[in-house]
Amino acid sequence: MTSKTVATRPFDGQKPGTSGLRKKVGVFQQPHYLANFVQSIFDALGGVVGRTLVLGGDGRFYNREAVQIILKMAAANGVARVLVGQGGVLSTPAASCVIRKHRASGGIVLSASHNPGGPDGDFGIKYNIDNGGPAPEKVTEAIYARTREITEYRIADVPDLELDIIGSRTFAGMQVDVIDPVADYAELMQSLFDFGAIRAWFAAGHRMCFDAMHAVSGPYAVRLLEQILHAPRGTVINGTPLPDFGGGHPDPNPAYATELIARMQGDDAPDLGAASDGDADRNMIVGRGLVVSPSDSLAILAANADRIPAYAGGLKGVARSMPTSCAVDAVARQLGIPVYETPTGWKFFGNLLDAGRVTLCGEESYGTGSDHVREKDGVWAVLFWLNLLAVTGKSASDIVTEHWQRFGRHYYSRHDFEGIATERADALMAALRARLADLPGQTLQGQRVVHADDFAYTDPIDGSVSGKQGVRVVFEGGSRVVYRLSGTGTEGATLRVYLERYEADPARHALPTQDALADLIAISRGLADIAGHTGLTEPTVVT
Ligand code: G6P
Ligand code: ZN
Repeated sequence: MTSKTVATRPFDGQKPGTSGLRKKVGVFQQPHYLANFVQSIFDALGGVVGRTLVLGGDGRFYNREAVQIILKMAAANGVARVLVGQGGVLSTPAASCVIRKHRASGGIVLSASHNPGGPDGDFGIKYNIDNGGPAPEKVTEAIYARTREITEYRIADVPDLELDIIGSRTFAGMQVDVIDPVADYAELMQSLFDFGAIRAWFAAGHRMCFDAMHAVSGPYAVRLLEQILHAPRGTVINGTPLPDFGGGHPDPNPAYATELIARMQGDDAPDLGAASDGDADRNMIVGRGLVVSPSDSLAILAANADRIPAYAGGLKGVARSMPTSCAVDAVARQLGIPVYETPTGWKFFGNLLDAGRVTLCGEESYGTGSDHVREKDGVWAVLFWLNLLAVTGKSASDIVTEHWQRFGRHYYSRHDFEGIATERADALMAALRARLADLPGQTLQGQRVVHADDFAYTDPIDGSVSGKQGVRVVFEGGSRVVYRLSGTGTEGATLRVYLERYEADPARHALPTQDALADLIAISRGLADIAGHTGLTEPTVVT
């Protein structure tokens, strides 16, 4: 094998965020930029000689080029075997599934998730460990430390590998298995859900619409829904993955999945609507004329898990990220199981899942998942809902409203203020933090503050501490306003304001969400002086 050692110098800013390193495509296209980061991963792991790795991405612009570079570097660094998805493609949950099933020592996932793609869009890379989940902070910190001192990387000097033909081959002295990106994942899904019941539901004439948003969930949804479950052709819309997602924003929320939302209005709307993001780990569930809030979806899955084959034995516990609403807490109380509150970022669920403390977890950012893999899983969530509809015979809207009657409703919304200069966003958060100690006991617009803090998390398994994870202000009755800065953006800063209000009275469950939260919205703007710090009087995105 011919490989070479290339001299290089550190790039600034190769610090992984909430979910890996994300930058504009142009940044990644700079000579050595990707290679530096990949070598830093290998070095931070103490070398990768003899290891088996999984490799794939969401198919966005630069995915193919990046896969070739990584394969050549893996070979030059002594990796024994790489399992790579055909065409360089693997959804994030499928990568997690493949790592676990084939007992790989880890994997590299190429994605910027829900961020737009294309030559002017975003690209991303992250490392997943042997449990199939995102590397914990101590690993990402070691990778970052390495990026700051790197002086050289190793890469095989060979032509590109043929990526489109499934099969095993030798590449620069390393075994590469080009695998069907869907097969292992589809097999896992069939072991979890009642495919017979779902097939019968479709056969009885029920319909659903799955919006793949021209992202990587397309092939997974087509295989599972249309081919294996015999849903009518056309059930999956925008099902062909495109390197720029058709110019769209592949984020499954009401603001971006507009085609789906339009289809779910009216009397002839399908029974269930769903959408997934760039790398297929997020999901949005839509009933007729009703968008299910992700926090509610998690609570509903938890409350009904005993109807699903894989979870019929009961849940060990549940977990949610701190800004996610407390709807699942109400379910956990009734089930008598623990609920864990973690910082934002799926990686924080890994230890809890590995230790068998929790079975289901979820986040307000349209992420839901279980212990079947170590990533959130969009298609899994859709199959869970389908299974639920099939065995209950109920509509999605009925399931939601009955859930509220039983547990009360947690009105919930997130207001994002995007494109803020980083210093201004930091100043806003600093000013907020400075006020925290004085807030308890104060009354804001008629609401008394009972608790205010900057969320810190001590991992119950390994004792690691993560501080400054978001400012939360809790009012009497459990209403909350939470502020944090996004860790996934690539341009400036995004302030996220999370608003939540609990309503026990079923007579007050049908209010428009923004109306139900109006007082909290006003408090949130004033308390942080959002307009003063950012110049923005209204959020740029409301979900
Ligand atoms: C990614 C992570 C999630 C996280 C989300 C929002 O999707 O996998 O775990 O909730 O980003 O992160 P942000 O820092 O942008 O709010
Ligand atoms: Zn994603």
